Amino acid sequence: MKLTFKKGSIEEVPKEYVRIVLTDEPKGTKHFAREKGIETLEVGAGKPEEMSARKFILLCRSIVQTAKANQRRKIAIQFDRIPGLFKNLQHLTPEHLAQLTAENFEMANFEFNRFKTKPKEGWNSVEEILIYGASSPSIIQAAQKGQEIGKAVNACRSLANTPGGDLTPTLLAKAAKDAVKDLPVKVKILEKKEMKKIGMGALLGVAKGSTEAPTFTIMEYNGASDKPIVLAGKGVTFDSGGLNLKSSNGIYEMHMDMSGAAAVIYTVALAARLKLKRHVIGLLPAVENMPGNNAVRPGDILKSLSGKTIEVTDTDAEGRVILADALTYAKRFKPSVVIDIATLTGAAHIALGDHASALMTRDDALAEGLSRAGEASGDYVWRLPLWDEYEEKVKSTFADVANIALGQASRHGGAIDGGIFLWQFAKELECPWAHLDIAPRMTAAPGDELAKGAAGASVRLLLRFIEQWKP
Ligand code: BES
Ligand code: MN
Ligand code: ZN
Repeated sequence: MKLTFKKGSIEEVPKEYVRIVLTDEPKGTKHFAREKGIETLEVGAGKPEEMSARKFILLCRSIVQTAKANQRRKIAIQFDRIPGLFKNLQHLTPEHLAQLTAENFEMANFEFNRFKTKPKEGWNSVEEILIYGASSPSIIQAAQKGQEIGKAVNACRSLANTPGGDLTPTLLAKAAKDAVKDLPVKVKILEKKEMKKIGMGALLGVAKGSTEAPTFTIMEYNGASDKPIVLAGKGVTFDSGGLNLKSSNGIYEMHMDMSGAAAVIYTVALAARLKLKRHVIGLLPAVENMPGNNAVRPGDILKSLSGKTIEVTDTDAEGRVILADALTYAKRFKPSVVIDIATLTGAAHIALGDHASALMTRDDALAEGLSRAGEASGDYVWRLPLWDEYEEKVKSTFADVANIALGQASRHGGAIDGGIFLWQFAKELECPWAHLDIAPRMTAAPGDELAKGAAGASVRLLLRFIEQWKP
């Protein structure tokens, strides 16, 4: 999608563009009209006094969705009228508004077409948007940045949407390389032999049920010489559940169980593309969780990289097991902060519904920073507790920790159990740590005004967080 910036007024728009006009009709209302040969599309934005940053994000997306649904390829908007129209948005700078607009135009234009035959008339995507009245260079720059962010989110969605058969742990590592091939990011891939040598028994244990070899990828962007921000993303390229096999309903979409890793790949790439003055490291533990004849068994005990032993009480709670080794590995970089990102539990989705990822941390400043980045970016998070009381849930009879509590208790607060398990390893870090359970945001929800499939959660959130975090 091309963004073209114009001085002047939309009244001068060339005939081949559809002029977008916002009205105070209810959201979802749209009318096409033609005046002196120029087509206008009126889009209902609801009552102006009820506008909010959240609604504005959806409005931007709905403009593109309406154009797409009606095969309009070229549209035009008058950007500088927005703050006057919506007084409630005046707390946002024009730059922030421009960035949000471009980000969400780009996200709404995305469709995952890789496995579809192209129709004769082409895909229904918007090719160009003329933006009138984006007067200053800083506004134009902010819009261009927004577009880069939108593209990174879309690349993340593409990768997450890729079927399990087309994205093994080895191919995930390659995808990380490819994502940064024109950027100053170093990529190192650990294979099974090196993992064995250093003792990544947790990651190796989960990998045993699959014929696909695990990988552990390290991405490093050195935009500053500060202590690094380390991001660790769950890269389960397919989660069958292992011997605790998932049900038919539960197993569908489990090729997206590497969404955390995808978010990390494209956040690191984006930090480099935007030349942020930050030191960012991405860790990508990747496995396929399968019930092959060598699979880890319920009751098996794994020795993790930290030295702690893990009783695998449920092979379907695999994400926390592989992340345990990633958190321990993070320590060698002497990080200023560590964040893990994972589609960790269905329970997080049950707790929060469709519209926020779960955030867990014991560091209030970090919680505050991530929550604020969530609000600003539209990639929302909501905090759950990680109190000492919950540690009972990961005690094991035969090992140092168990990956889930057995019996009735396992049904209660499952998202927190995932967080408290990870805390057993993160407490060894000498820096703030947070866990993001993005399972609620793995796929786009109805009303998101996004294509079905992966939502690209946490790329926008992490980017804003990285920009604001003071190491
Ligand atoms: N990858 C799943 C969690 C998940 C489920 C993410 C649905 C997105 C959508 C994870 O590995 C898992 O299986 N979690 C279990 C935990 C349970 C065994 C304690 C779950 O959520 O049921
Ligand atoms: Mn699982
Ligand atoms: Zn999983």
